[in-house]
Amino acid sequence: MKKGLFITFEGADGCGKTTQMTLLAEYLNKKGIKTVLTREPGGKGLGEKVRDILLNYDGEVSDRCESFLFLADRAQNIDIIVKPAVEKGEIVLCDRHIDSTAAYQGYGRGLNLDRINMLNNIATNGKKPDLTFVFDIDVDTSMKRVGKEKDRMESAGIEFHNRVRKGYLEIARQEPERIKVIDASQTIEDIHKEVISILETYL
Ligand code: TYD
Repeated sequence: MKKGLFITFEGADGCGKTTQMTLLAEYLNKKGIKTVLTREPGGKGLGEKVRDILLNYDGEVSDRCESFLFLADRAQNIDIIVKPAVEKGEIVLCDRHIDSTAAYQGYGRGLNLDRINMLNNIATNGKKPDLTFVFDIDVDTSMKRVGKEKDRMESAGIEFHNRVRKGYLEIARQEPERIKVIDASQTIEDIHKEVISILETYL
């Protein structure tokens, strides 16, 4: 049986990961490799409704409630989109996943990391990505890229986003086999080349 792959794209808001995910999908499609794209929060159907709440709800949201909404969306994404595709031998590219919850709700909001890891494990049924790219960029640059129209998460402040960045680098240090950090201040083309050279070893 052909082996599927589950690859996640992580990093600060405005780090360019969505552009890189799209470029990689085009590259794989040209090679005739079937690729499925998904995102968290979101994906399709119910996931997109949860996304709308998470990014646009303008009332009070407790940190724990926020975490559970991201986790509920994750369970849906894994069960409905990721798992069936990987089992068919396809490559799934996912924009944000478990490491976003550790970085944003754990390091950013200050929730207990052991508990987040445990809850992530429940949401994914223990399935971890085969490969994760973290696109690292300084907070000033990423916030400039996001611009003035910020969603609920992007408006959380500079200190919050500095903690998120540090969090990603710390998580990557703990799992160097799975997580590859890429300098996202390079040109789009250079980043794309680095992504491909890392991925080639998995194909
Ligand atoms: P999105 O528009 O997808 O951001 P980006 O285009 O930068 O990926 O919005 C997702 C936001 O939700 C982003 O600010 C990160 C945040 N988030 C969490 O805080 N925790 C999570 O578990 C996930 C998946 C996302």
